[in-house]
Amino acid sequence: MSLLLTGIGLLATQDVSTEHAAELTGAALVIDGGLISWVGKANRAPEADSAVDVGGRCVLPGFVDSHAHLVFAGDRSAEFAARMSGSPYEAGGIQSTVTATRAATDERLRANLSRLGAELHAAGVTTFECKSGYGLDVATEQRSVRLAAEQTPEVTFLGAHLVPAGIEREAYLELVCTDMLTACAPYARWVDVFCERGAFDVDESRAVLRAGIAAGLLPRLHANQLSAGGGVALAVELDAASADHCTHLSAADIDALAGSSTVATLLPLVEFSTRSPYPDARGLLEAGATVALATDCNPGSGFSTSMPLAIALAVREMRMTPAEAVHAATAGGAKALRREDIGRLAVGLRADLVVLDAPSYLHLAYRPGVPLVHQVWIGGVPA
Ligand code: NIG
Ligand code: FE
Repeated sequence: MSLLLTGIGLLATQDVSTEHAAELTGAALVIDGGLISWVGKANRAPEADSAVDVGGRCVLPGFVDSHAHLVFAGDRSAEFAARMSGSPYEAGGIQSTVTATRAATDERLRANLSRLGAELHAAGVTTFECKSGYGLDVATEQRSVRLAAEQTPEVTFLGAHLVPAGIEREAYLELVCTDMLTACAPYARWVDVFCERGAFDVDESRAVLRAGIAAGLLPRLHANQLSAGGGVALAVELDAASADHCTHLSAADIDALAGSSTVATLLPLVEFSTRSPYPDARGLLEAGATVALATDCNPGSGFSTSMPLAIALAVREMRMTPAEAVHAATAGGAKALRREDIGRLAVGLRADLVVLDAPSYLHLAYRPGVPLVHQVWIGGVPA
């Protein structure tokens, strides 16, 4: 059964690699078997079995949120309030979420994860990545990746989020690279490390990522969030799919990212929620690096599922153009997950799309904080 989606005031395909225009007015597209089978001007559209008219609204690919920590229990709103009164953000806050997560039942964790997944969908996200990292023992890390895998194929093993209380550093690193990895790898596609002062240094991070790669996982890395350490250089060295945060970058880091296939994933909701300086998006874009935007939804450094707000911040605070920000939140996120089937609207790709209650994607930044997502389609079905 084919379906014609027509009456599209502006279709922002993000498909810049072909001869087609990346933005089409008066457009339509045809969905067949969950995939896009035709894109073009509405007056040239082929016949289809049924039709839906979106009334002149803007349509774009569903957002691809390539960085989120959604398996956890507990509440850290008091830590946020203290931060707003001047306390700095520190990696050590993770430990309080670990205590609450270990004590939570599967049902509790599953319910929390489902609620956040629903929030992401309502905000226009059609694919999200989900990390472990609040268990930090073999049983709870395995529970975390198993529950995440119920919701998304983009599951990341982040046993190296912090050295938890009650175990020596070397013993913990050994555990992460052996029994914990063995228990988690069957449920995960990715391996990640929090490479940062207060968490893991570059050599420790390299050892964990290499162990993950040897177990069949693909690397990505929390890099240069709180300081300009060697995280970005390590991500490039290992051909990680993405270096995430990039809040503190040297000129050499920018050059390294630009000369690599590692995506710079920027997480402006974290800078907003930790009152930190924003990353140098313009420097990255002008050097030719691929930039993605993601939420980093987590209970500590930024508890938001709003990809539209991340776009608005990228435009207002990081001087990305609205077109660059939307591209980073769709096609950029897909690249950060090494996915060819999502993040753009083109023939043969998944019919994952967002219908905005607005004539243009410009409104995502022009109307910050306003819920503009009218409808989300996942695999050609309204969600
Ligand atoms: O991406 N930086 C490391 N991990 C998360 C925050 C973890 C937490 O504070 O709970 C992040 O910001
Ligand atoms: Fe993170």
